[in-house]
Amino acid sequence: MTPDQSQLALEKRHAAAAALRWVRDGMLLSLGTGSTSAAFINLLGEAVQAGKLRVQGTATSLASENLARQLGIPLVEPCRGLRFDLAVDGADELDGQLRLIKGGGGALLREKLLETASDYLLVIVDSTKLVPQLGRFPLPLEVVPFALPWVMDAVEKLGGAPQVRMAHTGSDQLYRSDQNNLLVDCYFNVISDPEHLMHQLQNIPGIVEQGLFLGLAKAALIANGEEVQVIRPGQAPTPASEFADLP
Ligand code: A5P
Repeated sequence: MTPDQSQLALEKRHAAAAALRWVRDGMLLSLGTGSTSAAFINLLGEAVQAGKLRVQGTATSLASENLARQLGIPLVEPCRGLRFDLAVDGADELDGQLRLIKGGGGALLREKLLETASDYLLVIVDSTKLVPQLGRFPLPLEVVPFALPWVMDAVEKLGGAPQVRMAHTGSDQLYRSDQNNLLVDCYFNVISDPEHLMHQLQNIPGIVEQGLFLGLAKAALIANGEEVQVIRPGQAPTPASEFADLP
């Protein structure tokens, strides 16, 4: 049975709370985007306000930056040499090898930038996100507006029915990313070779970033009801409570 929205919200909070246990004083954090990341940022903010944690962070979207600022989490601007001890972020889909689809919230470019600059990417998700094969969730692309027609043609040839994202359902306004680019959601249904597809997409001019995150995540925390399991590539799922520190 698929969990309802309130159960999913609880699962997101359990995954976020499990991640917070491994945040240490002095860490520089990359803060993710989306509802699960918002749950994490809220819990982090509570810990910072209570004086239990002293950390700094950089956010992967303007929305997460605003939330962190409201909660009093000290923010660091991008600068040369900046690296993060830990990135905590959600995902739209992940498989057992921790290959991810991200960008459902439109933040894939900043997410890819900050997570590539992180020593450890920890993914936090509810029970619906783990899939045997990627692709049911439409793969997001961030696209330079001028390049849109050619990108649509190229993606269609690769088998991913492209759809330009609108600002919201029923809107006639196009969605714009934090960088003012367009988003194209590609319906592949099944992505049998994510590495090959990523390579093909990276060769299409006008795609600023694509939503396959491969080889970046070190571990994922997957909440199922109140249970939170740690998933790592090639290893059996293990209860998160067994780890005092990052797995
Ligand atoms: C943002 O662009 C995405 O990559 C999010 O991390 C992803 O959409 C997960 O969002 P939820 O936590 O809201 O499911």
